[in-house]
Amino acid sequence: MPERKVDLRSDTVTLPTQEMKEAMIEAALGDDGYGEDATVNRLQELAAEKLGMEAGLYVPSGTMGNACALFAHTRSGDDVFFEERAHLFAGARGEFAVLNGVRPHPMQAEFGVIQPEQLEDAISSEDVSQPSLLCIENSHNGSGGSAWTPAEAESVSKSAKAHGLKVHMDGARIFNAVVAHGVDAKDYTQHVDSAMFCVSKGLSAPVGSLLCGSRSFIDEADAVRKRMGGGMRQAGIIAAAGIVALEKMVDRLAEDHETAHLLCAGLEAIKGIKIQRPPTPTNFAMVNVEALGWRSESLIEKWKTCGILANPRPPAGARLVAHRHITHEDVAYVVEATRQLVERG
Ligand SMILES: Cc1ncc(COP(=O)(O)O)c(C=O)c1O
Repeated sequence: MPERKVDLRSDTVTLPTQEMKEAMIEAALGDDGYGEDATVNRLQELAAEKLGMEAGLYVPSGTMGNACALFAHTRSGDDVFFEERAHLFAGARGEFAVLNGVRPHPMQAEFGVIQPEQLEDAISSEDVSQPSLLCIENSHNGSGGSAWTPAEAESVSKSAKAHGLKVHMDGARIFNAVVAHGVDAKDYTQHVDSAMFCVSKGLSAPVGSLLCGSRSFIDEADAVRKRMGGGMRQAGIIAAAGIVALEKMVDRLAEDHETAHLLCAGLEAIKGIKIQRPPTPTNFAMVNVEALGWRSESLIEKWKTCGILANPRPPAGARLVAHRHITHEDVAYVVEATRQLVERG
């Protein structure tokens, strides 16, 4: 058995802090089905305030937050535009498009950043009859945690709006983008109609995501959430941790970015290993071992023998995600273990 375990599969493995656990014990509770859970209400208000939007909705997962947004923004037959690796479609395997009867239009965009001209070309294509919604993802998971600039979000959203489209931002890790660019979340969200973010990823809360938008949009999204069975009753017990996540855990995401940077620098110094870096990276390290003649699965298996856990990015890559439980000693261990694995071949 390896003496050490370094879990770099995702920032979703983070455990709640002591402060979160204490807040959970003390949380004022009520039936959220009647809007009477004071802690859920506070988290929803706080989320809306941070994003500069009218209202927020606490949902069990990012997947459900995105699904509620998609359902609330669209009707059957609508055309929906997104980057081809977007979690909302690729990660969720398009179930929501099928369920809501929308027609999905994937676009390939460098580092996930859709350009206005690209969107315009897609909208003017012959098979588009009811252009309705643009989904953008920030930071962009599929391209290695690439953080959009606010200007990029603004220009594609402007173009979408000029064509009468609504814009939804899957900001599961929006605060990573905020910290990476040193901007305010509102610098992004002022350009979109709705945004979802997760408190259960790098922010370390155990459960939950927030969907934000106008009051009428959130009322509709809430109806969708209930229809899908996402009503949660005394959810303040978990929402309490979400409040701590938003109030106390955002700034420290910079530490995760530094950890990812150290991982990239250390691994890149090993002959045969390449790192794919987006223009503004966040907490991911995207490793490529093609030059060693290794496949993703063999890299993952070799790392496993050293207690290092990561997710494959076929055909010859892997994704390592830095988070609160990864120390600089862990980074040194991963780099040294990888060096030895490469030497052994
Ligand atoms: C960009 C993005 N959106 C949505 C989700 C879904 O979040 P959840 O796992 O809470 O459903 C994820 C999960 O990793 C994600 O990376």
